[in-house]
Amino acid sequence: MRVVILGCGGFVGSHLLDNLLRDESYLIEGWDPEDRKIRQHLDNPRFTLHRSIANAPEALVEVERAIRECDVVVNLAAICNPADYNTRPLSVIRANLFEVYPIVELCAKYKRWLVSFSTSETYGRTIASYLPAGTYDDPELYELREDETPLIMGPIRNQRWTYACAKQMTERLIYAHHDEEGLPFTIIRPLNFFGPRMDYIPTRDGDGVPRVLACFMAALLSGEPMQLVDGGQARRTIVSIYEAVDAIRRVLERPETSQNQIFNIGNPNNEVTIAELADAMRRTYARITGDARYNDHPIVVTTADAFYGAGYEDCDRRMPDISKAERLLGWVPRMSLAEVLYGTMQSYHDTYTAPKAA
Ligand code: UGA
Repeated sequence: MRVVILGCGGFVGSHLLDNLLRDESYLIEGWDPEDRKIRQHLDNPRFTLHRSIANAPEALVEVERAIRECDVVVNLAAICNPADYNTRPLSVIRANLFEVYPIVELCAKYKRWLVSFSTSETYGRTIASYLPAGTYDDPELYELREDETPLIMGPIRNQRWTYACAKQMTERLIYAHHDEEGLPFTIIRPLNFFGPRMDYIPTRDGDGVPRVLACFMAALLSGEPMQLVDGGQARRTIVSIYEAVDAIRRVLERPETSQNQIFNIGNPNNEVTIAELADAMRRTYARITGDARYNDHPIVVTTADAFYGAGYEDCDRRMPDISKAERLLGWVPRMSLAEVLYGTMQSYHDTYTAPKAA
């Protein structure tokens, strides 16, 4: 299978390459300006890396050729870090909507299967969160179903929603090209994939505010307190990157059932509040290091304004219905939160506490 992967050098892309390149039947052409996470594959004759962003004007001729020649295009290129949504809204809208559009058009022109990475944020907030009681008693009011749940998001001034809005518009463009012109597509909505190589540790190999896993790891590694935005009451479900990549592979290998579908990829059994996640991570780190003092690592409460700046508004809860992935892909995530955290944090520990080569 000839696969084009746009944004192949990031967290998901690097794990997808690890998985697919173990199988001799995959031939992969990828685009990414960054190769730090995928250096292990650069000598593989079944992988070609173009070190640029795919929609750079000078890259588009080569991208068009690759799309024409391939079986499937996987688009992972995105700005998907909440710290950017309200602080760099123009870049977020450009990267997640306008810069994806030429790729969608090329796939439509050549009728190439487009596997597009979207986001659980295309659901926005839950209905339950707007009810006076804020009740989560009824799954009808909070469970996220690919083909039924509406998008609910806050006002324009809350620029957190630039991302959800851009991603949803991209989903709608893809669907419209499918409906009017027969573009084959699959949309994947990831729900908090955790694993090695996610984001970066600020001041070590990146700057700014990464997503919560790397924020909490950075705090544990540096001795600084873990910070709970608005008390850490938002809820997330956590799924292993390895199981998530297995789902993507099942998508690629079952076109007859996965095409023209949208899939939630997440683990409904691993739900935590962010406050619970912080506590679980400090306890896990105490086990990994053998240093019981981490059990009491400081956790402080902060506000969204102080942490992210004005215009941040949170997704309250993300509980995926994954029955479609189970039915059509035969995919059932099994790794517990404890297992995911242990393996992931061990890898961060090994990477960031290893003695530096002289
Ligand atoms: C982000 C993206 O917006 C999604 O598209 C993506 O699917 C998702 O990550 C993902 O990893 O799958 P989100 O879960 O909101 O969504 O991103 P995080 O930065 O990981 O934040 C999770 C929660 O932790 C939020 O409630 C945030 O306010 C909180 N947080 C974050 C803290 O309390 N402390 C921190 O130091 C960092």
